[in-house]
Amino acid sequence: MQVRYGQSGDLDWLCENDIHVGKDWIKRCLGNQEYVVALQDNKIIGFLRFSFFWGKIPYMDMVWVPEAGRKQGTGTALFNFWEAEMKKVGAKVLMTSSVIHELEPQTWHKKNGFQESGQLHFGNFDPTKEVFFIKNL
Ligand SMILES: CC(C)(COP(=O)(O)OP(=O)(O)OC[C@H]1O[C@@H](n2cnc3c(N)ncnc32)[C@H](O)[C@@H]1OP(=O)(O)O)[C@@H](O)C(=O)NCCC(=O)NCCS
Repeated sequence: MQVRYGQSGDLDWLCENDIHVGKDWIKRCLGNQEYVVALQDNKIIGFLRFSFFWGKIPYMDMVWVPEAGRKQGTGTALFNFWEAEMKKVGAKVLMTSSVIHELEPQTWHKKNGFQESGQLHFGNFDPTKEVFFIKNL
């Protein structure tokens, strides 16, 4: 398996698979090196998209592996690459979050060393609570 930052040639695959954001945002994230992708035989098998809370704290917005390819270490490989890269740029803490009732990703985040740090809802945008996690580096 190869893990690297997303590149412009990954745009079509990401548009098909990163369904929570539009093409313009995907292009923006690719331009800013805010995607990490995992590949097998030169085909993408998962991605991690991130941003920076307060422009400072690396925030893992989304990590996704197609269902058929899960539990084979791809998600962990994406996360490990990202964590190592964020350490290189001097990050002291990582952030992520999950919808409150989605327990599986929360367990996965904890396995990767995250601890729960609070809950928020987003008013008119989405009253469902989101659980936030941090990992001290
Ligand atoms: C969360 C997600 C990215 C994890 O990806 P993944 O590739 O399945 O993750 P990994 O394979 O690294 O780890 C998952 C499990 O497989 C196990 N595993 C890892 N390699 C393995 C292998 N070779 N054989 C068997 N099991 C393995 C891990 O120990 C882990 O165990 P757990 O289920 O007890 O936690 C994936 O489930 C997903 O895309 N979910 C939907 C989207 C989502 O919820 N994203 C997170 C919120 S943004």
